[in-house]
Amino acid sequence: MPEGKNKVDMEKIVSLCKRRGFIFPSSEIYGGLGSCWDYGPLGVELKRNVKEAWWRAVIQERDDMVGIDASIMMHPQTWVASGHVEGFSDPLVECKDCHLRWRATDLNGNSCPDCSGELTEPKQFNLMFKTFMGPVEDDASVVYLRPETAQGIFVNFDNVLATSRKKLPFGIAQMGKSFRNEITTGNFIFRTREFEQMEIEYFVKPGTDEKWFDYWVKERFDWYLKLGIKEENLHLRKHGNKELAHYAKGCYDIEYLFPMGWAELEGIANRGDFDLVQHAKYSGKTLSYFDDETGEHYTPYVIEPSAGVDRSMLAFLVDAYDEELAEGETRVVLHLHPKLAPIKVVILPLSRNVKLVPLAREVYTELRRHFMTQYDDAQSIGRRYRRQDEIGTPFCVTIDFQSLEDKQVTIRERDSMAQIRLPINEMVKTLQAKLSGEPFDAQPLWATRTPDALGQ
Ligand code: GAP
Repeated sequence: MPEGKNKVDMEKIVSLCKRRGFIFPSSEIYGGLGSCWDYGPLGVELKRNVKEAWWRAVIQERDDMVGIDASIMMHPQTWVASGHVEGFSDPLVECKDCHLRWRATDLNGNSCPDCSGELTEPKQFNLMFKTFMGPVEDDASVVYLRPETAQGIFVNFDNVLATSRKKLPFGIAQMGKSFRNEITTGNFIFRTREFEQMEIEYFVKPGTDEKWFDYWVKERFDWYLKLGIKEENLHLRKHGNKELAHYAKGCYDIEYLFPMGWAELEGIANRGDFDLVQHAKYSGKTLSYFDDETGEHYTPYVIEPSAGVDRSMLAFLVDAYDEELAEGETRVVLHLHPKLAPIKVVILPLSRNVKLVPLAREVYTELRRHFMTQYDDAQSIGRRYRRQDEIGTPFCVTIDFQSLEDKQVTIRERDSMAQIRLPINEMVKTLQAKLSGEPFDAQPLWATRTPDALGQ
């Protein structure tokens, strides 16, 4: 694995996220809650956009995939069948002096990293959060908060097969919250105890699984590139035999160069028929597929691309972050892909002059029907541009006195800082085209600007 760390400082990302309303420490007024984070007004938009981009790529634009949304609490037998009750654990050691617990595999020496105290022998610690369903707190009412969304898909395999009338190969996708009582958390939203996953279970005919495994590794790797992640910050790592999860025949991690170094962004596993066989055994139901071309019944194999929403968000934020010198000042800019940017366009009246307000509000009302739009009339235009650069807004629309005369506005693009002037009634169409990737070519549109507006 190549050495190194992303040169972007995690502290700067955490600070920007707090300052601009992307991510706050959870229940901060009470001092926060370990490794829990709240998404603020911009964070929630970025998160929605990441999920929307994934859903679009894996469901909307394909005819071999459908989605589900299963409940977080599932029948407790699910987790016995899946192996989580038995095996989803980490070896923990406890300091005999300060009683802090550590993951045995994270330690170099034999003493407590905090107080150098003596450590206990490792003991297995299950990572699933337990709670009780119903009014009685006894063993019979124990339920778990799901530690992965995957099992909600497996237990619904037959329901989806019967209702969607899909034929192999086909996949089921789900996104939603998962919970793990992680021992080692940290690095901001990289590893938390409550997080969101985006998972696909792609069912294939046994024997074709290797082909589909390679296909999904490439497909998922390309998804991050298409959304703007720099290729040099992304690589694949194949799991060695000892590292493979109990269910996996093979696994690749897509790793990203985070500020703390290379780490898993998404795992793609070949799960064979492990899950369907286990659930069939524990539920007593048949979970197989009838192949009407060959007349055979068999249990499909499964390829599982499993991604984290929060972890992807962190990668997109780190990758987009830049500090550039512009007009003698440092400009902090998030070069987020337009699809991911929380706000697509902001309306900036040149000043709060009452003559400008009606037109500026009219343009704002029109644009917000089409895009996530903000209206900002506080402070100088330069400072307002900087504010939008910092949150990754691709386009700023300025309304000036000339706009009252010629019904044209100026549009400034975030990355190049180039500006074009164009008629208000062409704005929606132009912004739609630019947001979906058309180059920001100023030339043809400058012609529509009057010499006055150009200051000539
Ligand atoms: N169903 C397979 C599965 O859950 P995993 O590698 O344990 O596999 C998949 O998790 C993805 O979920 C990871 O690549 C990561 O993006 C995300 N993830 C897992 N644990 C996480 C945690 N504690 N905090 C944030 N994201 C996590």
